[in-house]
Amino acid sequence: MNTSITIALPKGRLADKTIEILEKCGLNCDSLKKDTRKLVLTDASDKFKFIFVKPIDVPTYIERGAADIGIAGKDTLLEADADVYEVANLGFGDCKMCVAGFKKRTYNVTSGNLRVATKYENIAKHYYESIGVNVDIIKLNGSVELGPIVGLSDVIVDIVESGKTLKANGLSVLEEICELTARLIVNKISLKLKAQIICPLIKKITEVLDI
Ligand code: PRP
Repeated sequence: MNTSITIALPKGRLADKTIEILEKCGLNCDSLKKDTRKLVLTDASDKFKFIFVKPIDVPTYIERGAADIGIAGKDTLLEADADVYEVANLGFGDCKMCVAGFKKRTYNVTSGNLRVATKYENIAKHYYESIGVNVDIIKLNGSVELGPIVGLSDVIVDIVESGKTLKANGLSVLEEICELTARLIVNKISLKLKAQIICPLIKKITEVLDI
């Protein structure tokens, strides 16, 4: 029986809080706090292997079984629509998925060509379908706020956390699509085959977070 599990950790905004929680669960995360370019690290007991991945890729690693358990933002889960178990809403990393743009400008949404720049093509597509607006979605990989500024798009669909990036670029929230938080996700087969490790870990995480 395989008694080690691989945990996919998101780089970036969710990383520090995730490591803090794992430590509170009793995992030795010293290796994760070292300044290293290594992408695969283990805890002292070798029971847990950690991989650092781009947040948007966490669902892919879990769905395909390259990692057993992971922490992902709800934004990435909605976007990826991966076949994984979402076992807990971790409550941290809260932000909102929003439509943003220049506040005083009006957009003729009935003309059927609202240009939307976003990293989240699927979320944007589903949102505008749900409100019956035809859009031209422009996929970007970052710095999407530039879209309206340079005239690439009319609006953006993006996550807003502190609101500082929008403010610094003269943009405002025009519509709120949904609230987002970090989620704990598990590979469907791993949950059966490695239940003796994964289930206590899920329980511990929910206890630590009091959820
Ligand atoms: C995210 C998001 C916004 C910003 C929002 O980008 O796409 O640009 O953070 O955060 P705020 O409301 O706290 O300012 P990220 O930092 O992931 O960088 P990116 O633009 O390169 O994707």
